Amino acid sequence: MSSTLELTYQDVAEHNTKKDMYLVIHDKIYDCAQFVDEHPGGEEVLLDCAGQDATEAFEDVGHSDEARETLDKLQVGVLKRQVRSTLEWKKHEKQIVDKMPSPQPGDPTPKASAHAASGSSSSNSDSTGLGIGVYFILLVGGALGYFAFQYMAKQEQAKTGAT
Ligand code: HEM
Repeated sequence: MSSTLELTYQDVAEHNTKKDMYLVIHDKIYDCAQFVDEHPGGEEVLLDCAGQDATEAFEDVGHSDEARETLDKLQVGVLKRQVRSTLEWKKHEKQIVDKMPSPQPGDPTPKASAHAASGSSSSNSDSTGLGIGVYFILLVGGALGYFAFQYMAKQEQAKTGAT
């Protein structure tokens, strides 16, 4: 077994025949050309994954530890993932942004949701306003009641004073 071989998905894809078959499982590359005839699950399933990532297919079956040991014997390398530099990512990002359609006049904008948010906050302030209103009515009502009581008491006093 040699793990020094580093191949990309593109390289692995070239090994997609029964006689020349590579599979990728958990980022490791396995040469299954010799094993394909011995596979207890049949050659068809392996051929379906030839030259591709077979991790999901392999794990879905729930292979035994023995199967995993066989895997070790078949490993020929590891997968080389393409790593983008920051500069490449920036370029890629710019390409995506450039492809995005620019907004046209009259298009709905995210303001709508901002509006909804401010609407809810304004309804909050509305309820605060209502609270103050209720206090105000109670205060004025209380004052009016007090003055009315004073007035009536005076009237009563005047009446009793007259008699
Ligand atoms: C090089 C990779 C693989 C090795 C070494 C391997 C090995 C084995 C072994 C030893 C068994 C016998 C049962 C066990 O011990 O779990 C088995 C069964 C099986 N394998 Fe694989 N396998 C590999 C890849 C795959 C892939 C990619 C598939 C895709 C679906 C697959 C599908 C199956 C199925 C369907 C069975 C039969 C399960 C059963 O009858 O219960 N195998 N394999």
